Amino acid sequence: MTEQIFKDRQKKLQSLLIKTGLHAVGLNPGPDLTYLTGMDFHLMERPVVGIFPISGDPVFILPELEAAKIASLSFPIRPFLFNENPDTWTDVFRAALEKADLAAGKLGIIPRRLRLLEQNYLMGAAPDLKLESAQPILTQMRRIKSEDEIKFMVEAARIAECALTSTIMAIKPGATEKEIAGRLVGRLLQEGSDPELPFFPIVSFGENTANPHATPTNRVLNPGDIILIDWGASHQGYFSDITRVFSMGDLHPEIDQIAKFVEDANAAARAAVKPGIPASAVDRAARQVIEDAGYGEYFFHRTGHGLGREAHEEPYISQFDQTILEPGMTFTIEPGIYLPKRGGVRIEDDIMVTEDAGLSLTNASRDLTQLLIEE
Ligand code: CO
Ligand code: CO
Repeated sequence: MTEQIFKDRQKKLQSLLIKTGLHAVGLNPGPDLTYLTGMDFHLMERPVVGIFPISGDPVFILPELEAAKIASLSFPIRPFLFNENPDTWTDVFRAALEKADLAAGKLGIIPRRLRLLEQNYLMGAAPDLKLESAQPILTQMRRIKSEDEIKFMVEAARIAECALTSTIMAIKPGATEKEIAGRLVGRLLQEGSDPELPFFPIVSFGENTANPHATPTNRVLNPGDIILIDWGASHQGYFSDITRVFSMGDLHPEIDQIAKFVEDANAAARAAVKPGIPASAVDRAARQVIEDAGYGEYFFHRTGHGLGREAHEEPYISQFDQTILEPGMTFTIEPGIYLPKRGGVRIEDDIMVTEDAGLSLTNASRDLTQLLIEE
């Protein structure tokens, strides 16, 4: 990705700010700040805030020890560094906000990111400042992926699928969920994933698969168990998020049956994707199949979520999200059926909206794959 991209994104942000009445956007470390700058700051006990005013260069408030990070930037910023004495930080915030012409005015923030920590320093330095959500602007920018971003997501999907193939071959009765999850994480890194995975893999066996967000346990794999694996890789800050199901030998016929319904629901939702329809229509396509099969009450989550720099981002493939799909949007399709105390099935793919349809970036077989029990 060329360095020009960050200047372009900052310019685009300024043009969107003009339409909203916000005077600047203030971001603490997270996916939005990285998207606009390419810089990776960790969220920590010291406040870091990047302020992007409606005109002029970004203003950065950050600790002196992070100064090296900004030395090599390809675009100009106005840095305000603070030392280890917290009593001086409010003054640094005040100077930075004055420089950004923000002693009063409206600062756009991301409500689910900015902490009371940063908020207190901002308000302490400029009591007349008003904070408003800038979420719609950042969402508008980030939900359409560029060709480069799609390439990174394709690679994240490839890495994840390769890692699973080599993990699954080694699964044998007697292994625990934690052991398989640990092996999968190792394989993800060996296949080339960045170390910051989108999430720790879900590996669940048997009755544990009835919980969509199960955490791997010491549950041992037995013949006749269904195995659900939900995992992803990270490449250049972009994620994949996939779910597949397997069986150790023969399954109870009803679990086999629901796996077929879920696969059909996944296929129906993928086939429904095209520009111009609301996200909710994709949810409906999946849900219809499962309702018609008589399992509607056992599919109790949305059909999917936007995917990119975050494992969950806009748009949401939910009956409540009326976002009109556009080429370049990326999201998961992951219908499921979960029978309490017995078992569940989810099949999850990563989809990109093209000019006329949906394209799956994930291609591993969606059939419930039976693993052979070796004696
Ligand atoms: Co997932
Ligand atoms: Co997902």
